[in-house]
Amino acid sequence: MHVRLAWKAARLWLMLLWLMLAGVLAGCSLSSAGQEAVLKVYTSRHYEVDSRLYEAFTEQTGIRIEEVKGTAEELLERIIAEGEQTTADLFVSVDGGVLEQAKAHQLFQAIESAVWEEQVPERWRDDESYWTAISSRARVIVYAKDRVDPAELTSYQNLADPNWKGRLLIRSSANGYNQSLLASLAALNGLQDTLDWAAGVARNLARSPEGGDRAQLKGLLEGAGDVALVNTYYLAGLLGSDDMDVARETAGLGVVFPDQKEDEWGTHVNISGIGLIRHSGNKEAAVQLIEFLTGSEAQTRLAHDNFEYPVNPEASMPDILSEWSEFKAQPVSFSEWEAYRPQLADVAEISGWD
Ligand SMILES: [Fe+2]
Repeated sequence: MHVRLAWKAARLWLMLLWLMLAGVLAGCSLSSAGQEAVLKVYTSRHYEVDSRLYEAFTEQTGIRIEEVKGTAEELLERIIAEGEQTTADLFVSVDGGVLEQAKAHQLFQAIESAVWEEQVPERWRDDESYWTAISSRARVIVYAKDRVDPAELTSYQNLADPNWKGRLLIRSSANGYNQSLLASLAALNGLQDTLDWAAGVARNLARSPEGGDRAQLKGLLEGAGDVALVNTYYLAGLLGSDDMDVARETAGLGVVFPDQKEDEWGTHVNISGIGLIRHSGNKEAAVQLIEFLTGSEAQTRLAHDNFEYPVNPEASMPDILSEWSEFKAQPVSFSEWEAYRPQLADVAEISGWD
């Protein structure tokens, strides 16, 4: 009898204990679900440094970041389709023109933050605060020092000169980096001039366009061509590589910032940037992330780890970027460039530059 009673009591105790434990667990999960903020960043950037920055942000704030990756086109379509139900809090692009597109589709809301305004000079902020640049880069000519006299390559126009026939390495004309260059040239020199230039580029191709900017540099090192057109961070990444073989090989490459003469427009510059989604349910945390990404610590890491020009003047740069900082940049007008996009849609067919 005593044994049975004791057994019953023990079972009761066990049950009580279990209920208490379950209660504690339920409480835990409730409070974490209630408090744990998760930011969804729809991003068309594809650089490792981003995940490291997001991890650092989570460490500082406890706010978790979920990256949703895709092309800018896919992501914009998705945000538009999702409408008010969108799970996107922020949208990141490697092209100021795409940020203008998102703004025109009314996908953004104004970023309200004195911290951000102090960190980022006006020229890198949308005039209505719908987006901000987080970095910039220039599109430059790279050449093999042993085969090219850089005096012959001072302008983008030179890339269409007949003496580069069969020697030019460049990715597809449909690529966003080249589209923004073409649009900027059209805005400055007129559409017909730019289409003629594209036809000259097509005639000079060393091979039909393949791969990204990095592939063009590789082609240059392998002797597939003598000149290439790439974004600064790809070249700086090779020159600043920890791999001594890579750094030594790349030392044979020279760089030209095109169009520096007085009567020329300057080198083409574009940005990576971020906008706050209008229907974000996490506005406060999203603004915190914008403040973090444009803060001097994150900006310094973007410059040192990925060789992008910081937009925050307080950030430090690696030597190579400081060396490359003194150049005349093309006037930037993303909305004007966007206006040329439809007219450049057939550039491959018209010019033969695939
Ligand atoms: Fe890139």
